[in-house]
Amino acid sequence: MSRKINIAIDGYSSCGKGTLAKALAKKLSYIFIDSGAMYRAVTLFLLRNKVNIADEIQIESRLQDIQLEFKQSLDNDRFEIYLNGENVESEIRDLSVASKVSEVAKVSAVRKKLVEMQQTIGQNKGVVMDGRDIGTVVFPDAELKIFMTASTEVRAQRRYKEMIAAGKVVELAEVQQNLIDRDRIDSSRDDSPLTMNDSYNELDNSFLSPEQQFELAMSWVTKLLD
Ligand code: CDP
Repeated sequence: MSRKINIAIDGYSSCGKGTLAKALAKKLSYIFIDSGAMYRAVTLFLLRNKVNIADEIQIESRLQDIQLEFKQSLDNDRFEIYLNGENVESEIRDLSVASKVSEVAKVSAVRKKLVEMQQTIGQNKGVVMDGRDIGTVVFPDAELKIFMTASTEVRAQRRYKEMIAAGKVVELAEVQQNLIDRDRIDSSRDDSPLTMNDSYNELDNSFLSPEQQFELAMSWVTKLLD
């Protein structure tokens, strides 16, 4: 397996894209980039600085003040996101950020800035990136594209458990409502909406364990690299 490829994983909120992306990157010794973390970090900056999220002009004028970086975690297990030098990996997962991120992700100036960064990261191949527009806009030529789905209830349960385990105070119902709201906004926005086309392999993991979904995705990778 010497030839390097890019793997794009898109899909609805909280359907296990990150889990799969991380496992594939580990197995292949590729870089895993969570593009959603970048949209979340921009949102965190705007919230902290009391920028009106409904005001695209104001958002655009603050983008020059936002510097994002990914750095390897201490256990070398993953890349963590830094906002102007501060590790914000945990804070960006708060519901306060999740409830505004899809509004921010609609803004074309935001998308342009982040897509450029993502494309630079992927230019030498060997990247697994998950998000909403990775196979359509960021890496339209990605050798492997996976579109992940799972039922809303399963996704809400998974995200709720994740948040509780991370010490966040949330209710299952508000987590589920947030997923539904984000899916609606992400799928219906004008710029780079979440959408699937024929170039994707679809993976519904409602009834698959992380191991089973990994095996399935690896079979697609092996077919490409053999
Ligand atoms: O982890 P989860 O699936 O809940 O979401 P995420 O990947 O962290 O993404 C958070 C939000 O960022 C999404 O709901 C989208 O609004 C936005 N996003 C995007 O517009 N394009 C991407 N490539 C990645 C995320």
